[in-house]
Amino acid sequence: MLNEKVTEKLNAQINSELSASHLYLSIAAYFASLDLIGMSHWFQAHSIEEHEHARKLFDFMEKRGARIEIGALSAPKSNFDSPADAWKTAYEHEKHVTASIHDIFSVAAEAREYGTTAMLQWFLDEQVEEEDTFRRNYKLALAAGDDEWNLQDMDARLSVRAPAPTSEE
Ligand SMILES: [Fe+2]
Ligand SMILES: [Fe+2]
Repeated sequence: MLNEKVTEKLNAQINSELSASHLYLSIAAYFASLDLIGMSHWFQAHSIEEHEHARKLFDFMEKRGARIEIGALSAPKSNFDSPADAWKTAYEHEKHVTASIHDIFSVAAEAREYGTTAMLQWFLDEQVEEEDTFRRNYKLALAAGDDEWNLQDMDARLSVRAPAPTSEE
């Protein structure tokens, strides 16, 4: 049975991964509205990935016999000043996720929940990658500014990452 405080933190983390998934789908919708389909697909793929992170935590808690609780999600931000602003929002969100993983890690270590700290190592590594990717793309979007040609170029670069097909396809 998992320690109560660790259970609470992991439930909160499931919510935060689902919130990230929700936010990234909202950012995908914003890029679609600008006809920047490469970036829209990139965020759709990332939204799915965040949902998988929530399920990874779900699976771990299930194995540990912990009580999983799924909470409400608030409406994600849907309007952005510019493509760079949307990337900045995503980058800030990733930094927030990293901080909360660090928090759970210390609570779990203090409670001597070493199975949890071992599982969280995957998330720590993932956040190093995520922050790096989001920071680079944010800088690219900043450099592109509102120049349509630069934005189309960035869009084409990111279009290599397509979301998984929907079940109708
Ligand atoms: Fe995540
Ligand atoms: Fe992420």
